[in-house]
Amino acid sequence: MMDVQVQKIDALIGEMTLEEKIGQLQQCGPSLVGAFEVSFEELLDMMFDGRISQEEFGRLMSTAEKDFHEDNLRAGKIGSYNGVGDALTANRLQKIAVEESRLGIPLLFGYDVIHGFRTVTPIPLAESCAWDPELWQRTARMAAEEATAAGIHMTFAPMVDVAKDARWGRVSEGAGEDTLLNGDYGAAKVRGFQGEDLSQADAMAACLKHFAAYGAGEAGKDYNRVDMSEQRLWEEYLPAYKACIDAGARAVMPAFNDLNGVPCTVNEWLLRDVLRDEWGFDGITVSDANAIAECVNHGVVADRQAAAKEALRAGIDMDMTSNVYAENLAGLIEAGEIAEELLDQAVYRILKLKIELGLFENPYQTNEDKEKRTLVKREYRALAREVATKSMVLLKNESILPLNPQQKIAVFGALANDPGQMTGAWAIGAQENDCFSLAQAMDAQGIRYAYHPGIVDGSVATDEIEKAVASADVVILAIGEQKEESGEAASKADISLPAIQLELAEMLIQTGKPVVAVLFNGRPLAIPTVAEQVPAILEAWHPGIEAGNAILDILYGVVNPSAKLTTTFPFATGQCPLYYDHISTGRPGGKSKFTSKYLDTPLEPVYPFGYGLSYTTFSYSDLQVETTDDVVRLAVTVTNSGARAGEEIVQCYVQDKVAKRARPVKQLKAYKKVLLQPGESITMGFAVLFEKLGYYDRKMDYTLEVGAFTFFVGGNSRDTLSETTYLSFG
Ligand code: BGC
Repeated sequence: MMDVQVQKIDALIGEMTLEEKIGQLQQCGPSLVGAFEVSFEELLDMMFDGRISQEEFGRLMSTAEKDFHEDNLRAGKIGSYNGVGDALTANRLQKIAVEESRLGIPLLFGYDVIHGFRTVTPIPLAESCAWDPELWQRTARMAAEEATAAGIHMTFAPMVDVAKDARWGRVSEGAGEDTLLNGDYGAAKVRGFQGEDLSQADAMAACLKHFAAYGAGEAGKDYNRVDMSEQRLWEEYLPAYKACIDAGARAVMPAFNDLNGVPCTVNEWLLRDVLRDEWGFDGITVSDANAIAECVNHGVVADRQAAAKEALRAGIDMDMTSNVYAENLAGLIEAGEIAEELLDQAVYRILKLKIELGLFENPYQTNEDKEKRTLVKREYRALAREVATKSMVLLKNESILPLNPQQKIAVFGALANDPGQMTGAWAIGAQENDCFSLAQAMDAQGIRYAYHPGIVDGSVATDEIEKAVASADVVILAIGEQKEESGEAASKADISLPAIQLELAEMLIQTGKPVVAVLFNGRPLAIPTVAEQVPAILEAWHPGIEAGNAILDILYGVVNPSAKLTTTFPFATGQCPLYYDHISTGRPGGKSKFTSKYLDTPLEPVYPFGYGLSYTTFSYSDLQVETTDDVVRLAVTVTNSGARAGEEIVQCYVQDKVAKRARPVKQLKAYKKVLLQPGESITMGFAVLFEKLGYYDRKMDYTLEVGAFTFFVGGNSRDTLSETTYLSFG
């Protein structure tokens, strides 16, 4: 930051009243007002607990209008809004801030741009299966271009919560179970969102979340406690956030959960010692929605006033929508309960971000015309389709795919014909009429097919199905989860498919026609029966607006699938959390009785981390491991042993064989995607720095321990070549 800007901020702070300072910390969520007397949240609860019907809820919502609390804005009591996603409203509010408030400080608009804004791309869990940082960056750039055209300055993304428990609904929002992938994914997103220069009109600040370890909530239950060793926190969870900070993320959102008993929102160790002092972060922190107030529910503060005090002290700059700062900070400062200097520091950081975003010079960075020209451009659609094809994982294929255009198709399952479901969780800027379902894409591409939802009023429609199947060569079955079944507050105690979907699948298999299952879901599912009995399975996830076209690209072989799972698929929910980089027990699971396993499920997952098929095959040979200076260099020959060109994601894992603390059986250290022509071979090289091979010892010192390390290279975490070498670290 240039001296003149620092002076400008200092001068501005010097002019501000206490109220105006507190106003900068206030992020307002517009409240909904309508023909109802309770808050929107209460109304939602009323629908959930059955006090009002869904229809009644819908009717009341149709009367709702947003109240932006303009009087407070005029009085300098609002510094930011959450959830304003259109240029007209943004500019209207900005005009009030700039022209009608005493100091004319521009507003900062934050929004959840999680996987695309209007051009919704696959859910992050899906996109991570592309193992492709360049692609992740491109889709984030597209999202930023669209969102900024709609008036947004900051996105509450990326989420880089390593998620090892498929019961947690928010596994859909991150890059899966691995630390390295989450970090790479997050860093690429930060670069894409923020662009080269944050002051450009199409650059959007990235607010990484949820700091920290939100994905490790006990039993996969949302908002639940996280209790873990500091060693594990630093080795498996913190590196992904750190990667985003290193990539330049300008904002951080602390997590809802407590970490070893202290809610992240008031966790001074996390927000000051680690984030600011150790990592040197100088951007802003924004609480999660209502999270400061919720510290009262955590039972770590007695009331909202104490919550405000503890949050500011711990290092929360901006209060997202709980109003706790607005209500309490002035009183606390006047009573000498908290130093005004802490408030000034928070205000300083928020104003600095506004300067970095160019808002003082150019508070109106868009207009309705620009917005209209930008949203869902033709090239954005093309990218949405490309990324969707690169995110879909071919899980099984007994010579059924790709289909040929001569085959007669019957399609079953409501998810094949429901465009609004294709966006998945957290796509609040989405519009249903932008989306293509599978059936719509077949219509648009002139593919003839018979369609039936398969399940009507809770029963399998046997007669209609038999009729439709009779004249078909191949059956496509769309099954999985509705978009509401993953995302926030969508944890599940059972991640298998509903019995009725299994019944439909079994009925179709019994017809003897080849069945292709297309799965739509926001988390790994426990699908042992489908995996065993259905001959072809495509994991489509929730693929975004180009869902239908992308699925057809894969099913008809226009695109050869290349994605690989970034999350393990268990046999049964009871295995959760199930993940590849577990550490060894004293009794590793095996056939004999007294080993670490379950009596009623196999030891291995249905599909392991890193797994995914192609229409070609790849073979691996000749793994070489060499050590020079401070690097381990690996070389392996990868051959396309099949009949068509394809991309393979080559993965490199390591195990520290003996260390004073038990180490993971395998840990991803590097990966690369390579395109190979039929018959082509390539020698691929990987470099793993010694410094990446250490761990935190009992005293929390990062240690490189001399000894044997096994390196594994392969096309998934299970099927690998391996080589053990002795490392002495120079
Ligand atoms: C979620 C955040 C989100 C915020 C703002 C919260 O409920 O946990 O991830 O960014 O809402 O909408």
